[in-house]
Amino acid sequence: MCLATLFPLAVAAMGEKSLLNNGGDSSDPRTFVPNNELPPAVRPETGDTGEPSALASGLNESDAIRTVAFSPDEEFNSDFGNMTSCGDGMCRCNATYADCSKHGANLTYVPQLPPGVTFLNFTYNRAHINHDDFFRNVTGIDHLEIGDNEIRWISPGAFKTLPKLKILDLGRNNLTYTTLAPVLSVKTLTKLNVIEMSLGNVPDDLFHDYPLLQLEILLMYGNKMRKLNLSVFAPLRNLRKLVLGSNKISEIETTYLPNLRYLSLDDCGIPFFPETCGENSSASLFPRLETLYLK
Ligand SMILES: *[C@@H]1O[C@H](CO)[C@@H](O)[C@H](O)[C@H]1NC(C)=O
Ligand SMILES: *[C@@H]1O[C@H](CO)[C@@H](O)[C@H](O)[C@H]1NC(C)=O
Ligand SMILES: *[C@@H]1O[C@H](CO)[C@@H](O)[C@H](O)[C@H]1NC(C)=O
Ligand SMILES: *[C@@H]1O[C@H](CO)[C@@H](O)[C@H](O)[C@H]1NC(C)=O
Ligand SMILES: *[C@@H]1O[C@H](CO)[C@@H](O)[C@H](O)[C@H]1NC(C)=O
Ligand SMILES: *[C@@H]1O[C@H](CO)[C@@H](O)[C@H](O)[C@H]1NC(C)=O
Ligand SMILES: *[C@@H]1O[C@H](CO)[C@@H](O)[C@H](O)[C@H]1NC(C)=O
Ligand SMILES: *[C@@H]1O[C@H](CO)[C@@H](O)[C@H](O)[C@H]1NC(C)=O
Ligand SMILES: *[C@@H]1O[C@H](CO)[C@@H](O)[C@H](O)[C@H]1NC(C)=O
Repeated sequence: MCLATLFPLAVAAMGEKSLLNNGGDSSDPRTFVPNNELPPAVRPETGDTGEPSALASGLNESDAIRTVAFSPDEEFNSDFGNMTSCGDGMCRCNATYADCSKHGANLTYVPQLPPGVTFLNFTYNRAHINHDDFFRNVTGIDHLEIGDNEIRWISPGAFKTLPKLKILDLGRNNLTYTTLAPVLSVKTLTKLNVIEMSLGNVPDDLFHDYPLLQLEILLMYGNKMRKLNLSVFAPLRNLRKLVLGSNKISEIETTYLPNLRYLSLDDCGIPFFPETCGENSSASLFPRLETLYLK
């Protein structure tokens, strides 16, 4: 392996301490996070979910990374300001945000919401996305959280009514690579969260069939992958953050991923350090990588 090509980037070792530590902020012994911030061009612009509140509330990138890597489910308290009742009394809204979460089986459809709403939080309900008009009341949203809805099937055209959708959190639903197809066709996505869904090994051609060219962040931790061939992600040419922790990956094959900045494979039990250099050269397979979690 040519670890040196990663230097001075962040590396988490498989043992108790970092392989590299150049004096940066490394209060967590499992990792090393560099003090220099990412250049403005690679800083997340969107109100990410998954590590969302961290970035949105002004914490810096290293804090956000820690959040994702070590406490993915931690919620941040945010001040939602003055929210008013909306959406058939099931939601709280301000001009741009609607929180319709936590109604369980009492909420199965998306109610009418103020026209300026761009971010819909629909977690912990029972979305029945069994017809193409499911999102007809919120066609202007760019950010949707619809995790924990026990979704098993998605009507093929349902997401076609959301032409601005960029950030989608679908975590902890009951979907497979096949039933995810209507989502993988949303070409505007920049961030996709499909955590904790019992997804198995990523099919070889998945992203050849669905090249999400704007996708920058993909969260897939807590699934059931056993073999990982990173080549499957190569068609995602703008992917810069890939979160694959908490799978049971015993075999990993690497490939050239020129834009990747962040890769987490923590809690996967990977038995050896993945190859980081091209076959016959000392050129890095991950020339822009800044953070790697393995333990
Ligand atoms: C990020 O924030 C932490 C505490 O919130 C601080 O210790 C650290 O120096 C900050 N890093 C940068 C690059 O600002
Ligand atoms: C609406 O609430 C969200 C969530 O707290 C906040 O980020 C946003 O700034 C608020 N928007 C307005 C217009 O008050
Ligand atoms: C919320 O409403 C109260 C009373 O109407 C007002 O004093 C306060 O400034 C408002 N806060 C925000 C964040 O809009
Ligand atoms: C969405 O709603 C859930 C449940 O109320 C909450 O835990 C989560 O923090 C919300 N997401 C955002 C980004 O506000
Ligand atoms: C669903 O509605 C019933 C009847 O109004 C109510 O008792 C129950 O608490 C609601 N459940 C949730 C999760 O909101
Ligand atoms: C849109 O909202 C209205 C009012 O909340 C509701 O009656 C209707 O069923 C919703 N449409 C869809 C397609 O869910
Ligand atoms: C699928 O749904 C069942 C409830 O019907 C739940 O117990 C199970 O944990 C779900 N599986 C996943 C991977 O979400
Ligand atoms: C990984 O995928 C690439 C491209 O499809 C293929 O050439 C290679 O043989 C695969 N490696 C393994 C171990 O399956
Ligand atoms: C790497 O080197 C081996 C032995 O010299 C050679 O057979 C192989 O074709 C080379 N592979 C590449 C990708 O250059």
